[in-house]
Amino acid sequence: MDLTPRQIVSELDKHIVGQNEAKRSVAVAVRNRWRRQRVDDSMKKEISPKNIMMIGPTGVGKTEIARRLATLTGAPFIKVEATKYTEVGYYGRDVESMVRELVENALSIVRSSEREKVKDEAVRRANERLVEMLLPPPARSKNLNDDDDDDEDAQSDEDLVKSVRHERNRAKIRKMLEKGLMENRTVSIISETRAVPMIMSNMPGMESMEFDFQEMFEKIAPRNRTKRDMTVKEAREFLIEQESDQLISKDKVQTAAVELAENLGIIFIDEIDKIVASEKQHGADVSRQGVQRDLLPIVEGTTIQTKYGYVKTDHVLFIAAGAFHRSKPSDLMPELQGRFPIRVELNDLTKEDFIRILTEPNGSLTKQYQALMQTENIELVFKPNGIDMLAEYAFAVNQKMQNIGARRLYTIMERLLEELSFEAPDMKQKRVIIDADYVKQRIDDVSKDEDLSKFIL
Ligand SMILES: Nc1ncnc2c1ncn2[C@@H]1O[C@H](COP(=O)(O)OP(=O)(O)OP(=O)(O)O)[C@@H](O)[C@H]1O
Ligand SMILES: [Mg+2]
Repeated sequence: MDLTPRQIVSELDKHIVGQNEAKRSVAVAVRNRWRRQRVDDSMKKEISPKNIMMIGPTGVGKTEIARRLATLTGAPFIKVEATKYTEVGYYGRDVESMVRELVENALSIVRSSEREKVKDEAVRRANERLVEMLLPPPARSKNLNDDDDDDEDAQSDEDLVKSVRHERNRAKIRKMLEKGLMENRTVSIISETRAVPMIMSNMPGMESMEFDFQEMFEKIAPRNRTKRDMTVKEAREFLIEQESDQLISKDKVQTAAVELAENLGIIFIDEIDKIVASEKQHGADVSRQGVQRDLLPIVEGTTIQTKYGYVKTDHVLFIAAGAFHRSKPSDLMPELQGRFPIRVELNDLTKEDFIRILTEPNGSLTKQYQALMQTENIELVFKPNGIDMLAEYAFAVNQKMQNIGARRLYTIMERLLEELSFEAPDMKQKRVIIDADYVKQRIDDVSKDEDLSKFIL
């Protein structure tokens, strides 16, 4: 969360080639959240986020930027597709549910940081319970209700000795546990689950219920005790989880999660161009227009009811993205356009971009295939002229047919290595060199034949 804009951009650079303008503006927007957290409270209220609209052709990195940003910021972040919503009142998911999703995301962030805080204590308690399981307390000596007086003193002496011995044994076991010497012993864990009807949470509209039905059912549903044998190692994980839940205040976590979502939450709305209605309005189009209308208050700032309490969306950052192939941003409702003041355009990818996409990112396509072939003990070597040729074909096919951006590289690579992927396990040859000739041999025919390439590439 403390990343500077420059650091954010350089993290994004590891995965996404080019598109500097888009990277810069998301980086600044993220940093501005951090800045806002640090100004006076009175000023804080005034500063609202500047929402971003990313516009660019298909397959040039819009969604990819969002995906990478999500793992980077440490802030509550969700990515949703505008197309999955329907207007309130129609059957389907209403837009308010995106805010609920954001809070869920915040909740899991808060929960895991709280878990981290109580971890030591939870581990200690879990180990203590393991000691208990491995060495149950000694049974009290029998004939307790024997009314022979003389015997009683002797009995309790014996009990005392037993309990001293027991304590000593416990200490030994505790030591051994801590040293990890008993990891493979088996213990029986009794876990309680309750038969909760799952239908409740899946019913449309149920998410918006004022209180948590799921939780209510969990309270009243019959308990189901099951005994499971596990190794000490597995049991410890299980018990740590149980104990940390005991140590964490649920209310505190929920309040913190709502606050986090309100102040630092980011909602990425993908495919926003798909909710533009076409000229003639009917059927699905009417509903799309409705989705835009439903989005307005949420983007502008409103209060949404969630099962964790009311959530204000005034300071949630929205980033929208769309290809706007068939429509323009100006086809969106004017009110909605105005709520995304920062516009960034992503560029079409060039052949040079393709070369870099193929080779530079940490998980680039060539590296992926190399890793896959490695499992068959085959070394895959990409020569620069081979890469060049691949990029060339990708670019050419994009020009000749539909421009699907970097996704074209996927289809071309798949075609290139189709034969090898099939034959690999049976091959004697342990080194395959992909140079310009290799590429040409396998792609040229298909890319020349327009009909063929329509299907294959
Ligand atoms: N600039 C880029 N650098 C690296 N990889 C890229 C780049 N652009 C696209 N890709 C790759 O191409 C694939 C498709 O990209 P992405 O999902 O970001 O497209 P998009 O811009 O969201 O398109 P659409 O409008 O169709 O949703 C991704 O797997 C991504 O890794
Ligand atoms: Mg996309």
